[in-house]
Amino acid sequence: MDVFRVQGGARLVGEVWVTGAKNSSLKLMAVALLATGRSVIHAVPNILDVTIMAELLRRLGCAVEYSAETQTVVIDVPEQISHRADYDLVRRMRASIAVLGPLVARTGSADVALPGGDAIGSRGLDMHIAGLELMGAEVTSEHGYLVVHAPEAGLSGTQLYLDFPSVGATETLLMAAVTANGVTKIDNAAREPEIIDICLMLQDMGAQIEGVGSPLLTITGVKSLKPVEHTTVSDRIVAGSWAVAAVMTQGDITIHNARMEHLSIALEKLTAAGAKIEATDDGFRVSMETRPKSTDIVTLPYPGFPTDLQPQFIALNAIADGTCMVTENLFEARFRFVQELSRLGADVRTDGHHALVRGKQKLSGAPVEATDIRAGVGLVLAGLVAEGETLVHCIDHIDRGYVKFEEQLRSLGATIERETLPDLD
Ligand code: UD1
Repeated sequence: MDVFRVQGGARLVGEVWVTGAKNSSLKLMAVALLATGRSVIHAVPNILDVTIMAELLRRLGCAVEYSAETQTVVIDVPEQISHRADYDLVRRMRASIAVLGPLVARTGSADVALPGGDAIGSRGLDMHIAGLELMGAEVTSEHGYLVVHAPEAGLSGTQLYLDFPSVGATETLLMAAVTANGVTKIDNAAREPEIIDICLMLQDMGAQIEGVGSPLLTITGVKSLKPVEHTTVSDRIVAGSWAVAAVMTQGDITIHNARMEHLSIALEKLTAAGAKIEATDDGFRVSMETRPKSTDIVTLPYPGFPTDLQPQFIALNAIADGTCMVTENLFEARFRFVQELSRLGADVRTDGHHALVRGKQKLSGAPVEATDIRAGVGLVLAGLVAEGETLVHCIDHIDRGYVKFEEQLRSLGATIERETLPDLD
């Protein structure tokens, strides 16, 4: 029952250091399953989802050691691993589905509980399933589990075309294809920086992948892969969240270990809102001197505007000068957060996957509830510019993706405390 008690009114000034990307680290840990032996992954953030993934890998038979101090995870993968990912872990984190591809590739079968995770839409698995079937697997759903069996001779490479560049489906099929027989082509593949990161680790392990970073991945199956050491790409969503924080609070934040090129559209939007953005040696600096101007947003797969920055940008537009339209094309339920933001006085109307945001001069602090990771961050940012006090409930969502969020905010000058409220049940 932890909450954040946030006082509005601070101008955030200072420096932050971005860790490796959550959405990459979790998948890289699953990639390690593809090779017997010891893989080492650096820049793995100390967040709850990493703890859950580590536990999942242990249940599959691996020895996993995580050091919060060095942000390194060491994974020892035995010759024989289990093929079952249990519901109690998978339901807590949708990214657990990342083990599906490696399990089928390594053991010829997988029993993976149907995932839970963020409450941000239906998040189907149809493209994962259709792709595995085209590669020769038999897929059924039994008692809440996805049950997959590869043929005796293993999966076969084939031509795959995704209906939509799904991040998860691209990852599953890529990981299943690296040791399949023959050549697999994944057309209309996702090309997020996190997918490129996975490809780079796989290539180091001996996988043959062409077209990395493009919508067409061509994978020639190899017999086996070797364990490696790899460093996770920087978290563009965390970096983008700090950039929005600087703009909303009319502050000045230097963001270290960040890649501007991974945030091009988002940073262009912030520039249009009035921010000054400068490249630095290892990241960029964002400063803002006036009230931001409204800017329209349309979320799309990379290199489009990231859905994972949409709530933060709605919070920004809620206090901006003007009216704008935000279109969410990836997760239909992501606007659930708008109801909470409205409790702070924001003027946001939604219709299907569009939200009309009329900027207000002022928001006013109130109790609110985080509905997913990014929504939680959007609410904290809104609380930082609202008059008075905002109490953000359900901050375990934020802990899933942001390391010591409140400590970093305090170091920038924010007044925010973590409190444990008594459980009334
Ligand atoms: C990943 C990220 C998430 C990010 C999203 C889009 C992780 C742990 N999560 O989620 O933070 O917001 O990419 O950048 O990396 N879909 C189907 N059928 C499928 C696969 C997906 O209908 O087979 C739908 C989903 O329901 C969703 C949309 O496609 O509405 C996007 O899904 P996808 O790109 O796969 O995102 P995730 O991998 O779930």
